[in-house]
Formats: sequence, C-alpha cells, structure tokens
Amino acid sequence: MKNNIITYGRQSITKDDIDAVIDALQSDYLTQGPKISEFESKFAEYIGCKYAVAVANGTAALHLCTLALGVKDGDKVITTPITFAASANCVKYCGGDVIFSDINPLTYLIDIESVKHKLTISPHGTYKGLILVDFAGRAVNLEDYKKLADEYNLWIIEDACHAPGGYFVDSNGKKQNCGNGNFADLAIFSFHPVKHIACGEGGMITTNNFDLYNKLLKYRTHGITKTNSEFLNSTLFANGELPLNEEDQKKYPTWYMEMQVLGFNYRLTDFQAALGISQLNKANNGLKRRIEIASKYERAFGGKSWIKRQSGSVEGHAYHLYIIEIEKRLELYNFLKTKNIFTQVHYIPTHLMPYYRVLGWEEGSMPFAENYYKGCLSLPMYPTLTDEEQEFVINQISNFFEK
Ligand SMILES: Cc1ncc(COP(=O)(O)O)c(C=O)c1O
Repeated sequence: MKNNIITYGRQSITKDDIDAVIDALQSDYLTQGPKISEFESKFAEYIGCKYAVAVANGTAALHLCTLALGVKDGDKVITTPITFAASANCVKYCGGDVIFSDINPLTYLIDIESVKHKLTISPHGTYKGLILVDFAGRAVNLEDYKKLADEYNLWIIEDACHAPGGYFVDSNGKKQNCGNGNFADLAIFSFHPVKHIACGEGGMITTNNFDLYNKLLKYRTHGITKTNSEFLNSTLFANGELPLNEEDQKKYPTWYMEMQVLGFNYRLTDFQAALGISQLNKANNGLKRRIEIASKYERAFGGKSWIKRQSGSVEGHAYHLYIIEIEKRLELYNFLKTKNIFTQVHYIPTHLMPYYRVLGWEEGSMPFAENYYKGCLSLPMYPTLTDEEQEFVINQISNFFEK
C-alpha cells in the first residue's frame, strides 16, 4: 500500500457530483432556484418526514430552530456537553440559558436519567426544551424523551448532523429514522464535507409541523414573505385593500413582499443543492460502507482489554464517527500521526470551553463527559477508506498496545 494520508473523515466527490454542479452553474439560477426545492423534497423523502428546509449550514439550521420555537432571554434549554458547540450555542443566539446534562458513559449519548433528575428537582416550567444529539451517528431513543417532553411541556430539537440514515427501534418494533419528525418538533442536519452528504457548507431542517415549517421559511430569508394571504400591511398594498380570494390576488403586483419578523440570509445556493442531490443519490451506499467499516473495527477490537467502544449494536448506527476510548490517548494519537494516520477527538466537552466557563460551568460538573474526553479518539471512518487502509490502521493500533 502506498503511504496515503488517512484522515478521520473525508468527502467523496465523483464525476456525477461535478457534472451536477456544472449544470447548476450553467443554469439560470445560482441561488433561489429550482434545485433548492428539489433537494428539500428528495431529502424529506429519504428521511421520511413531511417538510425540509435547506439552509446555509448546520449552525444556521440550529439558529432557525431556536428562533422558530421562540427561545428568548432566560429560557432554559437542556443539552449534552459531548457535541459540537453549535448544538448549545443556538440557545445563546436567542438569549436563552444552556443547561448541560451528563452523558451515559456506555452510549456517549445524553443520559435520560440525568435529564429526568433535572426535571424532577425543579419547579414545573423551569425548562423550555431539549436539544438531543444523535452523537457519532447513534440515534437517541426519542420515544422515551417525547414522554418526558409531554409531561414537562418541552419542545425537542433533534441534532441529527451525525445521523442521516440512522434509526432507533420504537416500542412497537418500528424503525424510526433520525430526523423523521415523529417525536421531535424539529431536526437538523449538516452537509459539511466530513458528514454523510457534502455540500461544502450546507444544512437541512426537517419537521412534520406546518406552522414551524412556515416560520423557518420566513426566518431563512430575512423574515420576508411573498405569500399574499399572509400580508399584514394593507395600506401599502395596491389600492389599500388585502386581496380577498385567489382570483383577486392574481391582480396584485408580484414585486410586493413584506418583512414581518427579523430574519437572516441563511439560504443554500442552487449549485450546493445540486451537489447535495447528487450526494443524496449515493447516501445509502455510503452508509452501507460505513457500517462495513464499523463492523470490521468491532471484529478487530472486540474483546481487547485495552480498548473500550461505544456500546450497542451496529444496527441503526449511521457511523459518522467510529470512536474508541483508550489510555495513553495522546501517545497513540502522536504515534499514528507518524504513520500518516490523522485521528481526531470528538469532543472537548462544551461546558469546559472558556466561553461557557465564564458563564459558570466548572470542571467536575459533568463527570462522565469529562472522563470520556480523557480517552476518546475517532478512527478513520469514511466510505472511500479502503480495506487495505483500514487494516493498516487496525494493525498500527494493535501494534501500539500489544508490542
Ligand atoms: C452535532 C453537530 N451539530 C451541529 C453542527 C454544525 O454544523 P455546521 O458545521 O454545518 O454548521 C455540527 C458540525 O460539525 C455537528 O457535528
């Protein structure tokens, strides 16, 4: 094997992706064109939900969700410390307070018992919502959280950035796809290059709730609506009357629009959407390959005393990341680097970031998350990783611990 550089994750761009982008670049629309709605409807079909809204990136998706759910100053929202910072930051964008809740040390997902504890020791109404992360690609059991959410009147955002194609099995034995909107109010995805579907930058929000969907559309484009039936400002509208029916509406000028709320420009471009559609066509194959790679790691490392893996079966896991916990993490990381294998750490606990420490979060407050961080390492996991490359990775790690 030639000594390729092996990273923890990477995009896979083929000729059909390039052709799709070139076609979009040569079309009439670079942005706000037909590729956006095509991507949205194909993505919604893939996930199995009613509505999808394409946006500039996963962070914008999270911000639009907290806006649409009406997060405001002082609203308390619970989330996990083991995630990318954006899962928590979106609460701060709207003035809310992030309340971290510790992880389960076996699954690495937010621990439902720790969330329950928080809810039961506080007066009803203390918390407004939950942001639950399908971390590494392992689906959170949202059915269990929905019961809690109903009892405590909470909304749920599912951060499914790591998990397109992942699922959990509900109490009726039915597969529930990550982001399908059956239990969460809103779900979000990212199309950053290391994710399953790459758009360069990009994101998607999925939901089954029409009112939230409508709000998201408005907030995505400056808070503007062009839908006649929603207009509020009748005095500026032609002869001062709101159109009564569809026939009348057609007589009114198409240039008229209203900015009704303070929104943003969080749009995706048409050429990014074209890439997203082309990538989506290959998503099932990519996922299959990720599961193959994970199964091979499981076989290689299962039963080894020097390694701990995320617990649970490979079924339903979307394997954005394959994570191990080991002692001597830094030594292994540096050793692998000398072999051109570039692993990564996901994540430094968000509550220990300087920004959150200033807000009062301290070391020792999330013991399972902090302990996990001491030993976690993400191994190479992407569909174009070859068998030979993976064997090289496995052999190097085994040599490091066993020689
Ligand atoms: C769990 C999680 N949430 C949110 C995001 C933010 O997505 P983006 O990078 O597209 O803004 C990421 C991206 O790394 C992520 O991993």
